[in-house]
Amino acid sequence: MIEILDRIWWIGIKDWSIRRFHGFEMSTHRGTTYNSYIIKDEKTVLVDTVWDVYADKFMNMLEEDVGISAIDMIVINHIEPDHGGSLGRLMEMRPELPIYCTKNGAEIIRRHFHKDWDFHIVATGDKINVGKYNLVFVEMQMIHWPDSMMTYVDGASLVLSNDAFGQHYAPVSLFNDEVDACELYQEALKYYANILSPFTPLIMKKIDQVKALGLPIKMIAPSHGVIWRRDPIQIIDKYYEWANTYSEDFTAVIYDTMYNSTKAMAEAIAKGMEAEGVKCKLFNCATTDQSDLLLEIFKAKGIVMGCCTVNNTVLRSIAGLLDEIKGHKFRGKAGAAFGSYGWSGEAGKIIAQDLNKAGFDVAQQPLQFRYRPSDEELGQCISFGSEFAARIHAMSGANTSR
Ligand code: FEO
Repeated sequence: MIEILDRIWWIGIKDWSIRRFHGFEMSTHRGTTYNSYIIKDEKTVLVDTVWDVYADKFMNMLEEDVGISAIDMIVINHIEPDHGGSLGRLMEMRPELPIYCTKNGAEIIRRHFHKDWDFHIVATGDKINVGKYNLVFVEMQMIHWPDSMMTYVDGASLVLSNDAFGQHYAPVSLFNDEVDACELYQEALKYYANILSPFTPLIMKKIDQVKALGLPIKMIAPSHGVIWRRDPIQIIDKYYEWANTYSEDFTAVIYDTMYNSTKAMAEAIAKGMEAEGVKCKLFNCATTDQSDLLLEIFKAKGIVMGCCTVNNTVLRSIAGLLDEIKGHKFRGKAGAAFGSYGWSGEAGKIIAQDLNKAGFDVAQQPLQFRYRPSDEELGQCISFGSEFAARIHAMSGANTSR
């Protein structure tokens, strides 16, 4: 256990070796942590647990450092198994313990464990006294599940924010002022882009609601990664920025290719953009980590996506990416499609349609050439890139003048 504030302790797991999260969905190059907290006030309160994979270790820590019989109540901010998974083991030993959670939380706990424990349903603004401190609950629906909430420790000015403001990052220190700030921000943004960006409109609204409560904030302790101890408001400000049609100064050219014809088109399109002063990053979709690629799309001002046509459709890496970005509802980004084909040539149209469905502003007709592009056709790719660059400049101007 590590004391983070008077009477308040981190009791969690640093998972240094995990490299895929949510099953095999998301890459976690720097591991992660599962943060649970103990408040040892007049009442002893456990806030969240850890992934059930670590239930044995967690139960041993709880017994040695706290004493399982000493726990008076549990707060479950979010029951997804990476936080609530060990609840079942604890409740086997203490089935009478009161569990404080949202209405959705109780329903989801029942669906996970098929038990009817002593649920105490809380809603935004509800407060319980545990001694020196009061716990104030704030519902955070869909950040990340319908049950999500945060617990504010009144008297300590501590926000136990659960998934919000977290990172998949196993750090050398638990605190933001003692880790590499670049690593921390990379992981915080990757986490936001991959996990929370589908809920962006709700996040803006929730942050506004939390700000309106006027609670002083000394520290923000999420359920993954480091605790924001120095200037905790910085991550709230960043969430505001990321939730507000965020982009950085580049575009992404993303392609899959069989015999390098589509790759040659990608490079020529990038050349056209760069000639117009638009910076480009090129990604072979098939060989790039999909979670990292999703982060790059989140950051890009626009994407130009290309693929050859195979069996009347796109290659599987592009199909998977198109399907994934449809769920992320990115806003304010330009898109365009291109590719080489042999005879039927459906890929360009499929990409353009799917980018459009995913919310990208697709204004150009897909650019496609049969088999290997000629020098003249590569020249047309350069022009296509220039035209896309003009749209990026126009969008940037529109954003700047808002
Ligand atoms: Fe980290 Fe939504 O669980």
